[in-house]
Amino acid sequence: MNSFTNNEFWESKSDNVSWFTDTNLNIAQTVLDKHILEGNGDKKALIFEDDQGNVTEFTFSQLVSQSNKVANFLSKNVINKGDRVFLFLPRVPDLYINFLGIVKTGAIAGTMFSAFGSDALKDRLENSGAKAIFTTKELADRIQTIRDELPELKHVFIIDDEDYISDLEKESDVFSMFHTRPEDYAFMLYTSGTTGKPKGIVHAHYGLIQQIESAKICLDLKDDDIYWCTADPGWVTGIVYSILTNLSLGVTTFIHSGRFDPEKWYSLIAKHKITVWYTAPTAIRMLMAKGDALTEKYDLSSLRYLASVGEPLNPEPLLWSKKIFKGKYFHDTWWQTETGSIMIANTPEIELKPGSMGKPLPFVTAEIIDDDGNPVAAGEEGNLAIKPPWPSMMRTVWQNTEKYDSYFKNGWYISGDRAKKDEEGYFWFVGRADDVIKTSGERVGPFEVESALISFEGVVEAGVIGKPDDIRGEIIKAFVVLKPDVDATEELKTKLQEHVKKHLAGHAYPREIEFIDKLPKTRSGKIMRRILKAKELGQPIGDTSTLEEY
Ligand code: PRX
Repeated sequence: MNSFTNNEFWESKSDNVSWFTDTNLNIAQTVLDKHILEGNGDKKALIFEDDQGNVTEFTFSQLVSQSNKVANFLSKNVINKGDRVFLFLPRVPDLYINFLGIVKTGAIAGTMFSAFGSDALKDRLENSGAKAIFTTKELADRIQTIRDELPELKHVFIIDDEDYISDLEKESDVFSMFHTRPEDYAFMLYTSGTTGKPKGIVHAHYGLIQQIESAKICLDLKDDDIYWCTADPGWVTGIVYSILTNLSLGVTTFIHSGRFDPEKWYSLIAKHKITVWYTAPTAIRMLMAKGDALTEKYDLSSLRYLASVGEPLNPEPLLWSKKIFKGKYFHDTWWQTETGSIMIANTPEIELKPGSMGKPLPFVTAEIIDDDGNPVAAGEEGNLAIKPPWPSMMRTVWQNTEKYDSYFKNGWYISGDRAKKDEEGYFWFVGRADDVIKTSGERVGPFEVESALISFEGVVEAGVIGKPDDIRGEIIKAFVVLKPDVDATEELKTKLQEHVKKHLAGHAYPREIEFIDKLPKTRSGKIMRRILKAKELGQPIGDTSTLEEY
């Protein structure tokens, strides 16, 4: 059987998920089909509002039928257990439905954020060896330009194409779900580190047992809630807490395809009577910046529970929320793509310490350790580490066991975050131990941005850092070295920004660019981003013993 930390506890939570009689498990059974078996098929599952204000609703039965059609369609197209099938879609219902349709076939569902450009898509589709992808007419152009370079990609299904729509319509809405083993892979998504290309983080079906437990504790979800998680399923929060856990718990879930807009968001809360809201600090700071008067224009009294994730939630926006939402405030939660579910949080019963991430969930062993794996004293900074294994943790890094192994040291999973623990066991985020950037809550690897910049004619090299920003947490700043005959103009900065948006991603472009003559490097030629950052912030540059002449 399993050997997870707190295994007895997880065995006692076995009922969180719906098992087949053969002790197999497919997350889609718990997320969707079991609701029909339990007589809740007619309950409202999804409320979708598009950019134009059109509202569409789906019951659990309708989601089951639709995802079964997708699963039948995929099976007809020879998608088999273990195949990778990716979704490159805006936040429309098909994204949620097709995710589950893919999982029903036993294939691995992968998501890619709709702002990705062709190079980012190519890296992900190539590394995963994806066999099929769902996209829209509008987004398909970015796939077509790279399709010849992806021999394993057999199908590009365009969900708003008439042929696809009519083919899908003809499929049966009955499907015999694949009985996956609990440890089989269910979904994957790519995330960034300091170096190299993005890594494919892979999660297993059994992880749902912990994901559901965490949602019960950290999001306080109840049967009659109308729940809005603003994260896009291109990121892990949008998968785990806006598809898997909420629907498993039978909670009516709201999705909005439009972009962030403070007034629009307040109006959506009032219109749909949202009760539980899970969002990110950048959005909260942007709402706060719009002023209190705007909040008075809308009836926000339906809100019952608020939570936040993805980057540090500083005390100011938190205390602002407490004032505006009449005593209710955003409960900060900490986790990562790799951990698969919330690990540390301000749960409803713990007393708030503004600025703290809260305490480890009861079934999580978290510690602050030094580089040798020894716990540090209370109040001291160290590496935030978790005792492995736990049910929702990543099972592998796709085709990169070396990278997977590098997360574990001295019997601990090392998160890459620096943090402190106080005398009362509250955790306080300090920063990243590496150069990973968090901009508007989204994780960006500096190497990917540097690579995109270098691919522009006229750029010799580039160094990229996260620069602290009051609203976005960090913004991306690039230091760029140009060829001698290229003029360092403002116009060129705009061109470089457009280039990164097109090739890498709309959200990952450098908001600030500075042209410089030379980058600080180690003698072995590695860019020392730490020095770029120290200079930018006017801080001492520290140990330069490995620095080449600069
Ligand atoms: O640095 C931490 C930050 O986000 C990283 C994980 O990013 P990602 O894999 O994209 O997952 C985001 C949401 C699950 C962490 O290593 N982070 C996440 N939550 C917090 C946070 N930093 C401070 N406070 C948080 N609550």
